[in-house]
Amino acid sequence: MPIRNWGYPERVEFSHKFSLQNHSTLSLYKKWKMSRFNRLSENTKVLVTGADGFIGSHLTEMLLDQGYQVKALCYYNSFNSWGWLDGIRHSHLEIVSGDVRDPHFCKHITRDVEIIFHLAALIAIPYSYVAPDSYVDTNVKGTLNICQAAKESGVKRVLVTSTSEVYGTAQYVPIDENHPRQPQSPYSASKIGADAMAMSFYNAFSLPVVIVRPFNTYGPRQSARAVIPTIIIQIANGMREIKLGDLSPTRDFNFVKDTCRGFIALSTCDAAIGEEVNIASNYEISVRDILQLIARIMGADVNFVEDTQRLRPENSEVFRLWGANAKMKSLTGLEPAYALETGLRETIEWFTNPDNLTMYKADIYNV
Ligand SMILES: NC(=O)c1ccc[n+]([C@@H]2O[C@H](COP(=O)([O-])OP(=O)(O)OC[C@H]3O[C@@H](n4cnc5c(N)ncnc54)[C@H](O)[C@@H]3O)[C@@H](O)[C@H]2O)c1
Repeated sequence: MPIRNWGYPERVEFSHKFSLQNHSTLSLYKKWKMSRFNRLSENTKVLVTGADGFIGSHLTEMLLDQGYQVKALCYYNSFNSWGWLDGIRHSHLEIVSGDVRDPHFCKHITRDVEIIFHLAALIAIPYSYVAPDSYVDTNVKGTLNICQAAKESGVKRVLVTSTSEVYGTAQYVPIDENHPRQPQSPYSASKIGADAMAMSFYNAFSLPVVIVRPFNTYGPRQSARAVIPTIIIQIANGMREIKLGDLSPTRDFNFVKDTCRGFIALSTCDAAIGEEVNIASNYEISVRDILQLIARIMGADVNFVEDTQRLRPENSEVFRLWGANAKMKSLTGLEPAYALETGLRETIEWFTNPDNLTMYKADIYNV
């Protein structure tokens, strides 16, 4: 059965302590009131958008394992490909193909669901340099369509997926949810816009929105545009001159199963409504050190070669990301279960399986 966390202690206190003395009391009261009317029933039916993708496919599997009925939105295409869900069959899984850019379609698919995990997005930063309109259409307009549809359908919880990229290069560490937003790429700007759009639906219409903000997530099935898969794939294909961009930036890496546990914990946490919450491991590691760690685990003696096409414009590169996870801990009690090396070993094992490795193109720069 799904984990349910209805007994968040603060909620009980609000009913006794409520007064209209200040804004924060008002917003606490609003949350308490919403949580009373937004309780979820047994056999909760949820919608996962971006379910065909890396994180969405893992989230779909985890939700099915926990007993949810899952409607999984895969991006419509003429091959009828369901991405990473292609091989999955489950009696509680309904797959729909479509596009979040279409408001009519979004209304159609949200009618019978109680929770929406909205992950569908364009996420590659280099592609956002050359196709920014499509990022606005998919990420900002897509989020608007999902929120509008959720409002009209009376959905009880909408989890909107943000990203640590909205913070830009850290002004202080660890980065908490109050850190300034710095749009250093069109991708980041589109996510800042999407977050604001979703939050406006919470403020204006009391739509029960949670902004979920993962820091860099890695694991089996991730696209080769990300740094960990690109290193593993090159080494696994016998290359010893590893092509990368700048080695100095640091990242806070999260194993995909921890990220999914974070989404599910927040989906049942009443106190998270109207909040922005990081999913982070609370450390930083440089690209240089992650290359060395992966090479050591894979037993490979490698050299680094700078590939200039992988370098970002200087003011666009996010040089430092290290996320605070105190808010997640205090809201849900959740902490990451995977140490970096444990998650990397599981990831390497999946990528080095020849059936999986052949799906990736090691010899090109994957955008
Ligand atoms: N991977 C990370 O490190 C990371 C970190 C922070 C946030 N995120 C966020 O998590 C979410 C999932 O990312 P991911 O890494 O799984 O990426 P992904 O590219 O694997 O998944 C995104 C999915 O969205 C789908 N999609 C794109 N446009 C669509 C449209 N118009 N209609 C319907 N579906 C569409 C794609 O088919 C894709 O499968 C995204 O919102 C991303 O911004 C990812």
